[in-house]
Amino acid sequence: MTFSETICRAAEEGAVLLKNEECLLPFTSQDNVAVFGRCQKDWYRSGTGSGGSVHVSYTTTLIDSLLELSLSDGSMPHIDVMLAKTYSNWIQENPYDNGGGAWGAEPWCQKEMPLSKELLEETGANNSKAVYVIGRTAGEDKDNMAEKGSWYLNDDEKAALKAICGTFEDVCVVLNVSNIIDMSWINSPEFKGHIKAVLIAWQGGQEGGRAAARVLCGLANPSGKLSDTIAMSIDDYPSTNHFGSKGDIFYKEDIYVGYRYFSTFAPERILFPFGFGLSYTSFNTSIKKSEFKNGKITVQVEVKNSGNFAGKEVLQAYISAPQRKLGKPARVLADFKKSSELKAGESQTLELSFSLSDFASYDDSGLTGYQFAWVLEEGLYRVFVGSDSLSATEVFFDGKSGINLSKTEVVEQCRQALAPESDFMRLHPIACADGTFVAKEEKVPKMKVDLAERIKAGLPEEYPFTGDWGIRFSDVLSDNSKLDAFIAQLDDKELAAMVRGEGMMSQKVTVGIAAAYGGITQSLRNFGIPAAGCSDGPSGIRLDTGKEANLMPIGTLLACTWNPNIIEDLYTFEGKELVQYEIDSLLGPGANIHRSPLNGRNFEYYSEDPLLSGMIAKAALRGLNIGGASGTIKHFAANNQETWRRTSNSIVSERALREIYLKPFEIAVKSGEVKSLMTSYNAINGHWTASNYDLVTTILRREWKYQGLVMTDWWATMNDCVKGGSESIKNTASMIRSGNDVYMVVDNDGAEKNMYEDNTLEALKNGSLTRAELHAAAKNILNFIMISPVAKRPLRPLKIFKSFQSVLKEQPSDALLVDEGKDFLPEGESFYLNAQHDAMYNISGTYSKEGDDLSQSVTNILIDGSPAASLECRSTAGIETTVNAAQVKLEKGFYKITLEHTKPGITVKKLNISSQVITPVSLGVISV
Ligand code: BGC
Repeated sequence: MTFSETICRAAEEGAVLLKNEECLLPFTSQDNVAVFGRCQKDWYRSGTGSGGSVHVSYTTTLIDSLLELSLSDGSMPHIDVMLAKTYSNWIQENPYDNGGGAWGAEPWCQKEMPLSKELLEETGANNSKAVYVIGRTAGEDKDNMAEKGSWYLNDDEKAALKAICGTFEDVCVVLNVSNIIDMSWINSPEFKGHIKAVLIAWQGGQEGGRAAARVLCGLANPSGKLSDTIAMSIDDYPSTNHFGSKGDIFYKEDIYVGYRYFSTFAPERILFPFGFGLSYTSFNTSIKKSEFKNGKITVQVEVKNSGNFAGKEVLQAYISAPQRKLGKPARVLADFKKSSELKAGESQTLELSFSLSDFASYDDSGLTGYQFAWVLEEGLYRVFVGSDSLSATEVFFDGKSGINLSKTEVVEQCRQALAPESDFMRLHPIACADGTFVAKEEKVPKMKVDLAERIKAGLPEEYPFTGDWGIRFSDVLSDNSKLDAFIAQLDDKELAAMVRGEGMMSQKVTVGIAAAYGGITQSLRNFGIPAAGCSDGPSGIRLDTGKEANLMPIGTLLACTWNPNIIEDLYTFEGKELVQYEIDSLLGPGANIHRSPLNGRNFEYYSEDPLLSGMIAKAALRGLNIGGASGTIKHFAANNQETWRRTSNSIVSERALREIYLKPFEIAVKSGEVKSLMTSYNAINGHWTASNYDLVTTILRREWKYQGLVMTDWWATMNDCVKGGSESIKNTASMIRSGNDVYMVVDNDGAEKNMYEDNTLEALKNGSLTRAELHAAAKNILNFIMISPVAKRPLRPLKIFKSFQSVLKEQPSDALLVDEGKDFLPEGESFYLNAQHDAMYNISGTYSKEGDDLSQSVTNILIDGSPAASLECRSTAGIETTVNAAQVKLEKGFYKITLEHTKPGITVKKLNISSQVITPVSLGVISV
């Protein structure tokens, strides 16, 4: 299978069929289908922000794919071509609104085409069935809101749906969404019971439109299961009241996230349970074996396709731990398996198995007598198996309910880490006699550890500076026992530069990606250290030069496949594509928990459940590794909202952190597939994650034994790793001390001169950072480079300069001609540079950019139509800033200079292209 075909298969498998009355779907050759809704054509392929910004070579839309199927094959349904044309014409007159194209500006939904009476009458007369497509997007820096057009249907959508249901008795709604949305309308009487089918097609990358069409036409049978609970109302989610504010966000719901909350406290508020999804066929299951042996529960289940359609089923095992001193959720996902495609009548036996100890609770309070330990409390552990979290039925062991532990067992003793410093109350269930639970509150235990002492006791061994002993990085590559001696040769300034990544659009790596790191200064390069490169992620390679790559489905869709095998296959292709582009790591997968359906970046993440998130992340990372590159799992951790993402402080109990928010990362790290990890923007319990010692060192590196690389998110802030307090981008000393290796990112060529004036060297001088800690960070960076594709590539020059030859035959008119060294602005018109010498030229630009600190934009400077330099930056808060954008080699002659705003937001004030004499040390030239 090709990459594209695998993307299509995954998008089909992740589609979730919520409703299919009277077997409305799939459509058959007897059906004449009218497709409504502009997103049939303006089909979303991904969410917004860095996560889905892939320049694709093609994309598919629902309507084009349906028409293609309908016209090419007589066994397919007939699609109303005239209606499709009407939409297409209307869209031409009412083009897609991208909010101006700037960062975070894209609206959640698009204006809808009004449906006239005549149009409805005509389509009603010509067709027996209707599809209505509803689209939504959200993303980085743009949360969803509990508003019409975002979480809720807007008035136009409701009116359209009402009109369609007034004309057609058989209506199917297709949701082309990046996230779950309000579904309370699904059974509303205003639609007369005519909405008989609902399919969540999500956003399936470049193949999403085709995949949805194939599902509607029965060429694929949906086998997706919800990775989140759809509740009756947004107010039912316990996070809703504690979401979106600027400073402290209290995670009062504690471990009761998603179905853990609903199954315990409010099963009656579930509209569609976690794990739910229909198929065109039906399945019978029967338990063949259940046993508890050596601490492991194993259940063998035979699943039989009892319908008429080939399809796959997902079986899920849930555990229900006893309510003792510690509260427990009524259901916790413990294992899942997806069947192969079973033909009608075919069956397969699936084995669900898990160790009880993997579902121990973390006692952060000491109530069990074992404080800061993972414990299995005495009592009955019941097991439920089924095809969703609500209807799963109990499995018996030798005819008895559950597994009975006669005494409390300690699974693992830990040390208190990351606990909150503020007082707050968290949710706690009290069991009632009738088996239900009442929501009460309990006090959250507070941090008792002296972090200064902990850090001091864990300081690494000193490796004094030795000076240059002639060991080069190539020597370390052939004998890695020389790594410490190699690092010992680097002076403090060199080490301080190594922990700074540069970007975006660095010319030291494949241009257009997010960062270069490692050997990015001349002196580090003199030691033979190459520069590694990473790009966004997670759905495909983001190249801001406009180069094309493949776009995979969004994370939520991938999780809804419940199929780690297909995820591994997809990401193996992705790994190979990275290698082809000479990129070492993809900035993904995203393993944050869907704490609230309003989080704009949920589409990059997988689920409200940590096991499902962890298993899918692990499969993605494994695929990337098999493909020859790696992934950078992000955003570690508790990064659950985009609003105020850089100032919010997630206040969470240690128990909820360990059981919910850190768990997906733990699963991935312990699988051995993680080589690189990104911390997040937010703080956890007062400590920004980029400088959070307990997060990165106590838990990640010491407890989980992680040996890979850690980087910050882009332009992240750090605060004092002991005292907390206010945060800044300069506190790299705390970043390093906490065990985080690379600051992402300083401007290009800014590492050597310490352009953000970070405090690494100052801290070394005043003793608040040791050289050994810096040495440890450098070691992690170099270890990562040693196992990355860059180590296998020939060491390329530090920078590759582009070389241009004048192609203009005649001298342009004086009015448009600019002499080298003079300021000009080629905005709107083309300008011509008069290069008077064969020489190296420096291109500099002066620009300003409004918007929030983290918003990203790119403007390319083209010479004779080919990108020569880029102004790519975060916001300058409107202040004019001048940067050296690139150096190029020009032959004497005339060159056409234009600007290309691939993403608006930058106001360019002037450009300057001046010849200069530079010593070509490590200079590489490529001709254009
Ligand atoms: C995002 C990261 C992304 C990075 C580089 C940040 O704004 O939070 O997820 O990888 O930018 O684009």
